[in-house]
Amino acid sequence: MMSKEENELLTQTGPGTPMGNLFRRFWIPALLSEELSGPNCPPVRVTLMSEKLIAFRDTDGKVGLLDRYCSHRGADLFYGRNEERGIRCVYHGWKFDVQGRCLEIPNAAVPQAFMDKCKLKSYPTQEKGGMIWAYMGPPELMPELPHYEFLQQPDSHYYVSKFKADGNYLQSMEGECDSGHVGFLHRYLQQDGVSAASAGGQNFVTKVAHVSWQVEETDYGLMMAAQRDLGDGRANWRANLFLLPHTVPIATVRGVTMTCHIRVPIDDESSWLYRPRWNPSRALTDAELSQFRHAGEDYPELIPGTYITKENKSNDYGMDRTAQRYFSYTGIKSLAAQDMAVQYDQAGVIADRTRENLVSADRAVIMMRQKLLKAARDLQAGKEPAEASRPEKFNVRAMDIVVAKDADWKREMETAMAPERPWVASLA
Ligand code: FES
Ligand SMILES: [Fe+2]
Repeated sequence: MMSKEENELLTQTGPGTPMGNLFRRFWIPALLSEELSGPNCPPVRVTLMSEKLIAFRDTDGKVGLLDRYCSHRGADLFYGRNEERGIRCVYHGWKFDVQGRCLEIPNAAVPQAFMDKCKLKSYPTQEKGGMIWAYMGPPELMPELPHYEFLQQPDSHYYVSKFKADGNYLQSMEGECDSGHVGFLHRYLQQDGVSAASAGGQNFVTKVAHVSWQVEETDYGLMMAAQRDLGDGRANWRANLFLLPHTVPIATVRGVTMTCHIRVPIDDESSWLYRPRWNPSRALTDAELSQFRHAGEDYPELIPGTYITKENKSNDYGMDRTAQRYFSYTGIKSLAAQDMAVQYDQAGVIADRTRENLVSADRAVIMMRQKLLKAARDLQAGKEPAEASRPEKFNVRAMDIVVAKDADWKREMETAMAPERPWVASLA
């Protein structure tokens, strides 16, 4: 059980909050590249960790991520004109470039010093892996972009999408660290198993509900291995990873297309899920791409023109009581909506963790919270998170493997990955 103070510290990411400061030491996805389709395209409102921003792509294709409100009298730059190398406020015509510098004040004669003073807050961005990444921390501490495996793939082997999740980011992220829920929430009654994408190609997660945990500190965050005893002398190990502050590569059987979940707080009551998919050994197939474009059970349909799922809280995630009786544990169609249904309001859209009763199955969730709490408190005390300055350590893979029960499972995982990744010893 947590104290109210700990729960607030974990869940609040606005400017000046301890957890918000921790997140601001890392590069985080601000939007998909496709949202800014080309030079001088329409600007897009972006809210990141409770900061209201505007994103636009200028005439040269450069991305600006600025304070959303004009420095004159605060008009919303969403209505602005994206013109020759800058965005122009339509209220009185002031113009700003991608770095927030005020280029023109056409309604008054002012000295350059005044123009300089009217600079808008702007954040550095980088574009990689179909995402526009933002760094919102102290400029002198800006690290390299983490060397995520998915950022090193050729276009043909890679796809990324996103959708909005209601509720605080942390309860969504706890779901990623909670291997045991899959055997209940995502269970199908008639079919034996869940989608290959969710189960990483195996369905032990739905057959064996009892999970034993081995959770270890690593250079990037945590390695959270769930062991399931298969009852025939073998064990299934699923080693999900937690990369500070918000990235969870999902354990996958070798050769199967991989997934990573990145939870980005919009504000304290909603978040984006960015979901890179990649296969280092082959191009993604048409069937995979079709599913990833929000046409399958793991990728809920979106409301056209938005990144909001059709199954959402306004319609109880499309729950069908007949389907719940005869077909699936929840009667909710997509896996993502099944997660959202139980996660968006856990005694609050910011879950009330003071009233929980945790058990051994919650071990990885507890460890992930402790990791975040410690990092945020250390930063409060002036100690920078070491993980932010170790981008090369983020090139790790999460794996699902079946081995003899008494085998050295970590060595077996390393051996299985060795042809491509001899350095995967960073698991330990
Ligand atoms: S409020 Fe933007 S130019 Fe006046
Ligand atoms: Fe889930």
